Amino acid sequence: MIYLDNAATTPISDIALETYVHVAKHYFGNPNSHHDIGSEAKQLLDASRRTIATILGAEQDEIVFTSGGSESNQLAIKALLSASDESKDHIIATDTEHSSIRNFINKIERQGYKVSRLRGDEHGMTSFSELEKLITPDTAVVSIQHANSETGVIHDVEKMGKVCRQRGVLFHSDCVQTFCKVGVNAKWFDALSVSSHKIYGPKGVGAVYLNKKVDAKPDVPGTSQEFGFKAGTQDVPGIAAFAAAAKQLNTDKERQFLEAEELRSLMIKGLQQNEIDFTLEGSPKNYLPNILGMRFHGMEGQFLMLECSQAGVAISTGSACQVGEDKPNRTLKAMGRTDEEAREFVRLSLGKNNTKEEIDLTIQKISAILKRHLQKVKF
Ligand SMILES: Cc1ncc(COP(=O)(O)O)c(C=O)c1O
Repeated sequence: MIYLDNAATTPISDIALETYVHVAKHYFGNPNSHHDIGSEAKQLLDASRRTIATILGAEQDEIVFTSGGSESNQLAIKALLSASDESKDHIIATDTEHSSIRNFINKIERQGYKVSRLRGDEHGMTSFSELEKLITPDTAVVSIQHANSETGVIHDVEKMGKVCRQRGVLFHSDCVQTFCKVGVNAKWFDALSVSSHKIYGPKGVGAVYLNKKVDAKPDVPGTSQEFGFKAGTQDVPGIAAFAAAAKQLNTDKERQFLEAEELRSLMIKGLQQNEIDFTLEGSPKNYLPNILGMRFHGMEGQFLMLECSQAGVAISTGSACQVGEDKPNRTLKAMGRTDEEAREFVRLSLGKNNTKEEIDLTIQKISAILKRHLQKVKF
């Protein structure tokens, strides 16, 4: 099977798997226990925290380990709300955030918060002027994804963070798709979220950066682990494996970026040479090269995904958290596409294990599927 769904999850790397097994076997102590076996696990936990902090340009005590990107997003926004003035009851987020943010914001809206949803342009890019217009003296938190998981569009979160800071608003960003793929710097944010399984680490592990200058309060007072922000014994093997995966990918990120760019161009050129009628969605300038959000004209994404699966190519119809909803793709709708266009959406997401041969084969298979399908539709 050719795996082109790396934005949904990545296969665990050898180094992460070896680290996991080694730590689970030899450092099984509870890091919160005060005997030597616990202290050894705690040392590893601290070393992993240092690794993630160093990659982000943060300090060790600004990193909170979580169960993944979704929990990180919700924890981060809750923490920032707890730090902002009680009279402030307004939140701003893009209308293309990951479901973990969207659902959380919908929930707190029902509880009385005012929510503004930032619309992007036709490429899914969020504009500064729009953000600036929406900020009011009541705005507590702005949350804007670094990159969209379906189109790969990259937002200029550094500039957006400056706008928020100037206006006294706390800024969070979902950096799940960009961490260790492009530069992510904690200095741009008050909080940011990352996840292990998108970077060849184990599933069920993630982290939040919480700027310590922000007076965030734990959700459940009395919690002792993770500076009070996340209850429960830490998954030390998972966290150590996450740190190992992050260190490896971060060191290699420039090369990986160029390789993804090369495979992306191959895919686009190959489909064009085969006279396939498609649209590449997202920004032509600011994008993650490993994510290709596409519409193949005249074929529903769901059918193409199933046909590709039968032909041995794993692609998706968008964020794994939206799959099964049987609705036109939400991100494409937010970008102004019709229902029909949004239903055509598929995402091909590349990873470090993909090869040129796999891309050539994928082009051949998709071209054959589309030609067959469009002929059937004609008759
Ligand atoms: C942008 C983005 N944010 C958050 C998440 C959720 O991460 P996790 O699966 O670790 O909860 C994902 C995963 O699909 C994502 O792509």
